[in-house]
Amino acid sequence: MKKILVTGGLGYIGSHTVVELQNSGFEVVIIDNLSNTTIEVLDNITSITGIKPQFEQIDLKNKEDVQLFFKKYTVDGVIHFAASKAVGESVELPLFYYENNISTLTYVLKEMIANNVYNFIFSSSCTVYGQADELPITENAPTKPAKSPYAATKKMGELIIEDTTKATELKSIALRYFNPIGAHKTAKIGELPIGVPQNLIPYVVQTAAGIRECLSIFGDDYPTPDGTAIRDYIHVVDLAKAHIAALNRLIHNQNKANCEFFNIGTGTGISVLEVVKAFEKVTEKKVNFKVVDRRAGDITAAYADTTLANKELGWKTEFTLEDALRSSWKWQESL
Ligand code: UFG
Repeated sequence: MKKILVTGGLGYIGSHTVVELQNSGFEVVIIDNLSNTTIEVLDNITSITGIKPQFEQIDLKNKEDVQLFFKKYTVDGVIHFAASKAVGESVELPLFYYENNISTLTYVLKEMIANNVYNFIFSSSCTVYGQADELPITENAPTKPAKSPYAATKKMGELIIEDTTKATELKSIALRYFNPIGAHKTAKIGELPIGVPQNLIPYVVQTAAGIRECLSIFGDDYPTPDGTAIRDYIHVVDLAKAHIAALNRLIHNQNKANCEFFNIGTGTGISVLEVVKAFEKVTEKKVNFKVVDRRAGDITAAYADTTLANKELGWKTEFTLEDALRSSWKWQESL
């Protein structure tokens, strides 16, 4: 049985990926510092799969703890989620983002190589493309200057990994996520709401639940059919499964280069208004909304060309937008 380290394994995407790893027969050890989640997620994962993952509460900023971890555990690969991800916060706290997302990455890679662990999956983001010139976005689209320290950490992270694959035996796949939404069908794990949601779906869900009064739609004057911005919303379980496919590719030496990049989205662009309407339809709940000014830094439209991931990873999405929205609502109700 292969053992995989999942950093940030108690977070939103991490926890769903741990479940899929266990369902696929991997043994999992999680590192998490609980900065944006709670320890109960460990029990909730266990109650879904019937297997308790090993867990170390480690902050990856503590280099010595990372060294000790790799002395204690022998792993066959690493899926690296641990990072901060709030765009606005990153503008306020750039040094925290560079330390928390970049220093930690270098510590993990260094210890992997020192301990002959060469399979690495990285959480990247479609943010590296900025506003792409052509849609849908392929992996060949040029990356654009980062608009926030958060985005910069994803671009830099990819570069650091690429350089390391050139100089060592490291093999890596960076998955460029589009917009992950939804929750596990059991409603035992999902995205934990902390503070006022910054992302669309959590805000929509909380508005429908009466926690927020009114959703602000950021701009209806974009050059899109209904004027609202377009994104590619992917069910988090589909996204989690892409990690298993990527990991198997590396473990079975099916990779075509030592550093590969794949878009992970649905391939379909959906507008903010379409999201609201679809949510209202599947849940029969009303979502109060008003249109306000555009949000600074937002792009008009981004959706993935997933041909490469479909072909090379043998992966495709299984869930619809409606499935994802329904699962988000079920998760909210369970809270
Ligand atoms: N939106 C609203 N109202 C809200 C929240 C969002 O209208 O209250 C709109 C946004 O303007 C955008 C769309 O809904 O058009 C999606 O916004 P999200 O904040 O949910 O997602 P983003 O596409 O802005 O951000 C996501 C990730 C980031 C990542 C970024 C770019 O959350 O981590 O994609 O890749 F950096």
